[in-house]
Amino acid sequence: MDKLLITGGYRLNGDVIISGAKNAALPILCAGLLTADDLVLSNVPSLQDVSTMLKLLRQMGLAVTQENGIVTLNGAAVNNWEAPYDMVKTMRASILVLGPLLARFGEAKVSLPGGCAIGSRPVDQHIKGLQAMGAEITIEAGYIHAKAKRLKGAKIVTDMITVTGTENFLMAAALADGETVLENAAREPEVTDLANLLVAMGAKIQGIGTDRLVIQGVDRLHGAAHTVIADRIETATFLCAVAAAGGDITLKNTRSDILDVAMDKLREAGVIITSGPDWIRAQMGARPKAVSFRTTEYPGFPTDMQAQFMALDCIAQGVSKVTETIFENRFMHVQEMNRLGAHIEIDGHTAIVNGVDKLVGAPVMATDLRASASLVIAGLAAEGETLIDRIYHLDRGYDKMEVKLSGVGAHIQRVK
Ligand code: EPU
Repeated sequence: MDKLLITGGYRLNGDVIISGAKNAALPILCAGLLTADDLVLSNVPSLQDVSTMLKLLRQMGLAVTQENGIVTLNGAAVNNWEAPYDMVKTMRASILVLGPLLARFGEAKVSLPGGCAIGSRPVDQHIKGLQAMGAEITIEAGYIHAKAKRLKGAKIVTDMITVTGTENFLMAAALADGETVLENAAREPEVTDLANLLVAMGAKIQGIGTDRLVIQGVDRLHGAAHTVIADRIETATFLCAVAAAGGDITLKNTRSDILDVAMDKLREAGVIITSGPDWIRAQMGARPKAVSFRTTEYPGFPTDMQAQFMALDCIAQGVSKVTETIFENRFMHVQEMNRLGAHIEIDGHTAIVNGVDKLVGAPVMATDLRASASLVIAGLAAEGETLIDRIYHLDRGYDKMEVKLSGVGAHIQRVK
């Protein structure tokens, strides 16, 4: 099993090219199930989760070609509507095939995802919404079995804001009979990216980017070409890395307009940030100041950045309060950071971080994707060597992170 060995204390200087967003690419790949024509996708990141999704879609009969970074999907021969347990258990985002399969083929069988490291993460809202659209859904032997002759437009109000839930409903409603209104819809930029692709495929969607999406179903969707948006979480992760290690880096091929909260918090921590539409430069020459925050849905502070900012708070001047409101168990990195010398206490959904003068490298274990990234950041700032085990979590969602970090002067290597 691969590990990452980091020798901390080196500043980061230079340029980093940001990849396409994982959480936009995954639903967008599933949209390939909605049409018999070609979907031509650029800026698809090279990640384990993308490979897993492509494997699942191929099993369903989708034709996939990859050339010069362009992924072309063709769904003319899709003939298998099942997402088996062995795939779903490795990637929860597999639930995103449910809406499109049901909408185009009238049937889908998707394994129930089960819990994961960051929380119980039920999919009850996905089921409730599709039932409202007329789907008959049974749960049997660990599988969601959904059937519908043709989905019907409906009003769906979810109990909480759900990102992949909104994406499943968008894809289902695009081919449904009549009008679907999604109230309490997720506004994450990745949802907007999917909606824009669906419009390019012929879907009729109003309210894109808002929490009320109105979809007029059409009989068929056609092919389209689309460029996946930049990964705002990868971007913000690199910004936290330079904030913790010091230096001067420019992130390219990214978007500053979808990162307002993270950039504000970094400025509060003392980072000098300048940006243009597709680049962000971060300069840091001092010890960071502690920043408190509370995770919420977009446009609030992203839960996917909670662990990385906490790594920064560990070495900051002052005390910070970090409250996680989206997932009930997303503090698994805390014990590992404390092993590096951090002073963090957990009280329910809040972590109190007492900044220390320095962290000292140690062997640590990655527990989930964003926790892995936070340990990399802590390792870059720590004195001596940090060895991070179980980095397959990192490979699921970051495109060649250690290569990009080495390119700007970090001492980081993958060890087999
Ligand atoms: N929830 C339910 N029932 C549902 C759906 C959600 O109770 O049917 C709860 C969840 O358990 C959670 C909250 O609602 O407490 C929000 O979950 P959401 O459905 O929004 O999360 P998700 O769609 O499963 C996506 C991202 C996550 C990101 C969250 C929140 C993808 C593929 N995944 O997950 O990304 O943390 O939204 O922004 O888009 C990551 O990239 O590291 C990651 C975990």
